[in-house]
Amino acid sequence: MNHANVPHKTHWSRHAVFWDSFGSPLRPHREDVGHVVSHVLRETPLPVLLLMGVTPEYARTAWPQGTRMTAVDRCPEMIRSVWPADHVPTTFRVTQAEWTALPLANHAVDAVIGDGITTVLPRWEEIDTVLSEVHRVLRPGGLALMRLFVKPVDSESPDQLLKSLLCGPTLGFHSFKLRLLMALQPSLSAGVAPRDAYRWWKDLEATHPEALVRHAWTQDQRHTISFYEASPDRYWFPTEAELTRSFVKYFTVKEVIYSSYESADRCPLFVLHRKN
Ligand SMILES: C[S@@+](CC[C@H](N)C(=O)[O-])C[C@H]1O[C@@H](n2cnc3c(N)ncnc32)[C@H](O)[C@@H]1O
Repeated sequence: MNHANVPHKTHWSRHAVFWDSFGSPLRPHREDVGHVVSHVLRETPLPVLLLMGVTPEYARTAWPQGTRMTAVDRCPEMIRSVWPADHVPTTFRVTQAEWTALPLANHAVDAVIGDGITTVLPRWEEIDTVLSEVHRVLRPGGLALMRLFVKPVDSESPDQLLKSLLCGPTLGFHSFKLRLLMALQPSLSAGVAPRDAYRWWKDLEATHPEALVRHAWTQDQRHTISFYEASPDRYWFPTEAELTRSFVKYFTVKEVIYSSYESADRCPLFVLHRKN
């Protein structure tokens, strides 16, 4: 069966339409883009790139003329609405496909770029197949640069998050969603349903409306959590150690870079060297 042609029931089709309402830490910050570009160009001045997903920040940044990029995403709405087709060079293309079966030859690319990709896998067990595909399409010595969502070892509970919302420092809405999702995940194997985060939010709205005022979250930002209401997806938040264990078969972790924006401690950039 060609999975690329099977429509996926997922909230990404709705996220696509409201992409501009999302921000860091759910989207990469210019600090992250700067790190990615400098690592890639240090190794390969005129790179051939694979982008996992359609993250516009990485497609639209100032790559040297002649850079080639293939973006791969399974969701047609994300490709239609979020891939910046009118703002990228003709050497960039986008393809609808699964990361578990990348439509590229062995050793086809110098570097692979991914943002949040391990959190959005349909099943956590797919991680090994996805990493083996990334390894297959990278040339020997190639780099994978992945900004990934990691749950702190001593992650807060939902009650601790509530206390912090009521009395702690003010928090951006996208940071709040990320912290809430992580707080609600009982274990990596269970993952967390975004739907559960929506229910927690509705309860917060009803019982602590003062929290919403305190953090000055805009209507547009708040609207983004409504996409979780009917989402059939599950998200996965490994710790840094759990991720590192997944990488070991295919990659050496060269560096883990933490940027400085809000909640950047939960989304480091992993610089991975392909094992030969
Ligand atoms: C790149 S991730 C996370 C979003 C990211 N933080 C950003 O700013 O781009 C989201 C994308 O991954 C895509 N996706 C999720 N699982 C996939 C898979 N197994 N194969 C291909 N695309 C996938 C979704 O369709 C969605 O467009």
